[in-house]
Amino acid sequence: MTSNTSLPLKKIPDTQTVTAVTHYTDRLFSFRVTRPASLRFRSGEFVMIGLMGDESHETGKQKPLLRAYSIASPSWDEELEFYSIKVPDGPLTSKLQHIKIGDEIILRPKPVGTLVHDALIPGKRLWFFATGTGFAPFASLLREPQTYEDYDEIIITHTCREANELKYGAELIDDLKSNELLNAVIGKNFWQRIKYYPTTTRNQSQKVGRITDLMHSGVVFTDLNVIPLNRDTDRAMICGNLAFNLELKAMLEEYGLVEGANSKPAHYVVEKAFLD
Ligand code: A2P
Repeated sequence: MTSNTSLPLKKIPDTQTVTAVTHYTDRLFSFRVTRPASLRFRSGEFVMIGLMGDESHETGKQKPLLRAYSIASPSWDEELEFYSIKVPDGPLTSKLQHIKIGDEIILRPKPVGTLVHDALIPGKRLWFFATGTGFAPFASLLREPQTYEDYDEIIITHTCREANELKYGAELIDDLKSNELLNAVIGKNFWQRIKYYPTTTRNQSQKVGRITDLMHSGVVFTDLNVIPLNRDTDRAMICGNLAFNLELKAMLEEYGLVEGANSKPAHYVVEKAFLD
């Protein structure tokens, strides 16, 4: 269709309403928003979310400030959950950390990402390796029935600077035990197939050290009483800061695992935890 009349091109941002906010530390918080009825996504994917920015001094106009955020809720959830860092001078998170129930956020409903089951070939054990807010996509996948349908054992490692930064993940894993859907679909005691391995690097906790070092030394495998990774049985997903992703990727390649993608499933996939 063509027309000579000029239509207004200004796009109205897609907004969703905040339904819950939980602050964990002065650096971390999670929040939930309404889910657009038309939004379909695969557990582990991310979307662009944000807020309107300040008025530009030059144009007097406001532009949306958007960042990629992993959806932390599973694909079956009626709402969407996100887990975020607070960066004091971060353009978005310095504002986002102040959201309250009833506020509106912008959400572009175009989910994408590689941390999805479709990007892995069948295996027996699934490893989730996270640092910091990189736990978010695994918060989704840990609540996704397919995770337990496809694998016998799920091992989740989470490395943070301080012990209080593990709280979101620890509570979520504990809550899985009473998750009605997973209990009904997968069966009682499904959670016994999960091995959780939290570590901290800058203060005391049950286990101190970077997961990469603990794997190099073999301590992880001894602690968990499991055999080291091998390409025949193990599949893995990595989500953390860039240096961590690169180091772990190199380690997995040493174990013989090959990187997969949506278009070419293989043994492991990796995604950056998106920060300001
Ligand atoms: P460390 O405290 O030794 O730097 P951040 O908050 O900076 O994203 O880091 C989150 C966690 O990831 C920290 O515990 C940090 O340890 C750890 N980390 C950072 N880089 C690496 C890496 N290359 N390999 C393993 N862990 C890392």
